[in-house]
Amino acid sequence: MHIDAFPHPDIHKILLDEQALGDRIRALGAQITRDYSQRRLLVVGVLKGSLIFMSDLLRALGSEVDVMVDFMAVASYAGTASTGTIRVLLDLRENPEGRDVLVVEDIVDTGLTLTSLTETLRARRPGSLEVCTLLDKPDCRKTPFKPKYVGFQIPNEFVVGFGLDYDERYRQLPYVGVLKPLQARTH
Ligand code: XMP
Ligand code: MG
Repeated sequence: MHIDAFPHPDIHKILLDEQALGDRIRALGAQITRDYSQRRLLVVGVLKGSLIFMSDLLRALGSEVDVMVDFMAVASYAGTASTGTIRVLLDLRENPEGRDVLVVEDIVDTGLTLTSLTETLRARRPGSLEVCTLLDKPDCRKTPFKPKYVGFQIPNEFVVGFGLDYDERYRQLPYVGVLKPLQARTH
């Protein structure tokens, strides 16, 4: 059933539609299932941006992986400009020591968030640590960071939807889209 035939009025254009997102996430799930087959995997979602990607990715993992789920929250953007430093707002409940850990993130931009987050996690001696991001803006790096699993590489445009927000709005959109300029928006 289609709830909305047209994009949200604040969206300039749809970059990735439901079909493209679904196909790619299923392929990522198959790849991760092969890589962690017959192993235990602690999947760590980075709140809040990863929420929709995380739930789709989890359902794309096969039963040959023994999956456990946890979450972290870190402070990142206010508006569209990167602050550079992160603070852990919500920490893991599981102990990652000795475990295979897969961090699930919505987007890698400057790379600062995941550099800092993976340093924090590595200090707790996981057995292995990899990152899966839905979106990657490789042109925006301020520090070299290469996630192992990438859904889509996208150009340097601010995107929202499918979990990604602008000041906490637009997370519910079922696609990834580019926002209109501020003066053309309804919110
Ligand atoms: P860095 O720069 O640390 O950024 O790699 C990671 C965090 O920045 C946010 N971010 C975005 N959020 N649309 C968003 O909604 C974007 O285009 C965008 N670019 C970066 C995001 O929260 C991510 O976790
Ligand atoms: Mg955000």
